Amino acid sequence: MRRNSLRAAVAGTGFIGAVHARSARLAGAELAGVAASTPERSAEAAQALGAERGFGSAEELVTADDVDVVHICTPNHLHLPLAEAALAAGKHVICEKPLAVDAEGAQRLADAARGTDRLAAVPFVYRYYPTVREARARVASGQAGAVRLLHGTYLQDWLSSAADDNWRVDEALGGASRAFADIGSHWCDLAEFVSGHRIARLCARKLTAMPERSHDEGRAAFSAGNGGGPTRAVSTEDAVVMQFETDGGALGSVVISQISPGRKNRLWLEVDGAEEALVFSQEEPETLWSGRREAATLVTRDAAAMAPDAARLAFLPAGHPQGYADCFDLFVADAYAAIAGERPEGMPVFDDGLRAARITDAVLASSQAGGWVDVAPAEVAP
Ligand SMILES: NC(=O)c1ccc[n+]([C@@H]2O[C@H](COP(=O)([O-])OP(=O)(O)OC[C@H]3O[C@@H](n4cnc5c(N)ncnc54)[C@H](O)[C@@H]3O)[C@@H](O)[C@H]2O)c1
Repeated sequence: MRRNSLRAAVAGTGFIGAVHARSARLAGAELAGVAASTPERSAEAAQALGAERGFGSAEELVTADDVDVVHICTPNHLHLPLAEAALAAGKHVICEKPLAVDAEGAQRLADAARGTDRLAAVPFVYRYYPTVREARARVASGQAGAVRLLHGTYLQDWLSSAADDNWRVDEALGGASRAFADIGSHWCDLAEFVSGHRIARLCARKLTAMPERSHDEGRAAFSAGNGGGPTRAVSTEDAVVMQFETDGGALGSVVISQISPGRKNRLWLEVDGAEEALVFSQEEPETLWSGRREAATLVTRDAAAMAPDAARLAFLPAGHPQGYADCFDLFVADAYAAIAGERPEGMPVFDDGLRAARITDAVLASSQAGGWVDVAPAEVAP
């Protein structure tokens, strides 16, 4: 199959579904169709996104004969049944994180993916910033020295008022963990990706600052609520504070929050090696902070001065900013290259989604039991 003959379909057409649809087209796929929550909304979304048709349902989309690759961008509870059906129908699958609402579901999907020759990828797209790849290369080459500390934050504010609502708030649709599964999963994936360490043990506390919120059916992600709906009880967490140890002997800590006013998407990661500390900040992704005893410098995203794997992703000249949407485009282009038989470096797959689900499970177990817990190891029996 030629890569540019791929026929892609997108299930879920909210914030991230539209991003996937754009990236799929840019990577050379034909947008065969989309599915939203009703056939009427599917038809509207198909027109808005330039897809050939709106499917009657996401279930119909993931098994359609004329679709090669399925992008699953629905609320979390649908990831498992849709991805399972898509893999069983022989489709390549790009399924959003969290891969499933719990580790058991993520394990089923990772096992199903291992039993096929299809691509099964998860959009941990922050891996696709060239500055992230540069930090990873400096750790891998030994330039940064042995990693001693990993720390940072992932802060947002779009759920900081009791008037804010989204399907993520509802445990039945989003899963038992909200903030951590939603954005903590990205931070942990990035910390492990850059450092090469695995989070082995952790101790976490979670906070549900607003045990009640007004229910606002259909409120889109990242939009402000008006507080007009009836009040409902909330069981999912707004924030998590976690400390951890890695399998490589490093210590770490992270604050995850969806209730930090003024913080829009502040994923911030520091890796302290014996010789060099490295800081990546998602809202200033064009530079990497490099700290040494003698001086601290800002490394510009400049292909000419970066490691090959970073330079590969730096497709615009330095000074012409690349951002979040570019990460998505690069991720989808790599995913389609993998479908065509290439082996792009750093492709996040279902095993990485399973890894994130296991860390999330450990966070929930720790915060319930009140102490340190082991994270189930990354290795999975063949
Ligand atoms: N990788 C990333 O950086 C990233 C970023 C944002 C969201 N996500 C993930 O993407 C998924 C969607 O999040 P979002 O922010 O786009 O949410 P959203 O609320 O903006 O959109 C969800 C969409 O799913 C649709 N939907 C609901 N039920 C459906 C059904 N039965 N069939 C088809 N569509 C249905 C809704 O109509 C809505 O358009 C989540 O799993 C989220 O964790 C990932």
